[in-house]
Amino acid sequence: MKRYEWHPVHNTFGIEAKARVYVDYESVEELQSLLPQLAGERILHVGGGSNLLFTNDFDGVVLHSGIRGMEVVAEEAESVLVRVGAGEVWDDFVAYCLTQGWSGVENLSLIPGEVGASAVQNIGAYGVEAKDVIERVEAVSLLDGSRRTFTNADCQYGYRQSKFKREWRGQFAITHVVYRLSRQFVPQLDYGNIRTQLSTLRDDEVTPQAVRDAVISIRQAKLPDPLVQGNAGSFFMNPVVPREQFEQLQKDYPQIPHYNAPNGVKIPAGWLIEQCGWKGKALGKAAVHDRQALVLVNRGGATGADVLALSDTVCHDVKARFGIDIHPEVNVI
Ligand code: FAD
Ligand code: EPU
Repeated sequence: MKRYEWHPVHNTFGIEAKARVYVDYESVEELQSLLPQLAGERILHVGGGSNLLFTNDFDGVVLHSGIRGMEVVAEEAESVLVRVGAGEVWDDFVAYCLTQGWSGVENLSLIPGEVGASAVQNIGAYGVEAKDVIERVEAVSLLDGSRRTFTNADCQYGYRQSKFKREWRGQFAITHVVYRLSRQFVPQLDYGNIRTQLSTLRDDEVTPQAVRDAVISIRQAKLPDPLVQGNAGSFFMNPVVPREQFEQLQKDYPQIPHYNAPNGVKIPAGWLIEQCGWKGKALGKAAVHDRQALVLVNRGGATGADVLALSDTVCHDVKARFGIDIHPEVNVI
């Protein structure tokens, strides 16, 4: 275990923030032995810091998991169950699955962050979400140190939502995630630009690796690399509006992109923001990315307050023009 005081907290937005205490633990037992000393402390558990926006230093204890390992825990005729340590880098796990001939996560290639957060955030991209492959989640209660196991259903997953983000916020450290991967490759190509990207290939050339390569190339073309320009991916979630509201909007904007959602119609917030004229525009040291308007970027030296000022202005303008509330996906600390 490593413990530091007033230690910088890594975050892909590139915002300077320190934790009064920062602890990197390596095992469930280390975490359990540490918890009694943290009674009464404010605790924040972080992963790779790729979905965090710090608005201040954190006057409490930041925990980070160094639990590693990927182990097969069950082999079935059509699938395999793999238990992965929360501190593994998500995309290393995706790459490992491909080397083993397991599929199910190739559409989620190159999403930054660690395995623990995949089960909090229900990460998603190109028609697949983490919930489609999560079998169960193992955690330690930050309240009493007990070990808990949650089934997929217990976690109540939805679009970028889970109980860990809502009712259980701050209550658990996720230590392992068990994923169910498929031995049979069933390509998920419904998300438009994946199919386009793979359209030159014969059916037998559409392998998990080909899907991974296509996803990586689309992502690299659109999304800013945090090492070059600080960001946390999509800053906002795509709003879902009632069908009647959508039909009204469609009269004024016949070209409005949209997808059917279980409880209404999902509209890409990137389109709403672009229509408001914000794509590529800056407000102080924060800006709206010039290739993907859903992403806010740090132009260098921005504070959390700078990014929030831009986010508030963008939300205000979208509401004023379309009557739609958009909400951050990013965790504001
Ligand atoms: P952090 O940002 O450190 O934490 C995220 C949340 O999880 C916090 O609430 C934190 O408290 C909690 N948490 C983290 N680890 C644990 C743990 N072990 N136990 C308990 N709680 C924990 N997301 C998508 O869904 N799809 C995308 O396509 C996508 N693209 C992105 C592209 C870029 C360039 C960037 C920068 C981000 C993108 N994201 C995307 C967002 C981000 O990658 C995900 O939200 C990711 O899951 C965050 O992982 P992390 O380990 O960095 O978690
Ligand atoms: N669009 C615009 N202008 C823009 C951006 C998007 O008009 O600047 C419109 C276009 O019509 C485009 C549509 O929005 O066809 C969808 O764009 P894109 O495929 O880039 O997806 P997105 O809805 O903007 C979501 C996720 C991403 C994920 C991609 C691919 C959310 C909040 N974001 O973005 O996730 O990678 O789909 O599946 O759901 C993240 O969560 O951090 C993230 C990057």
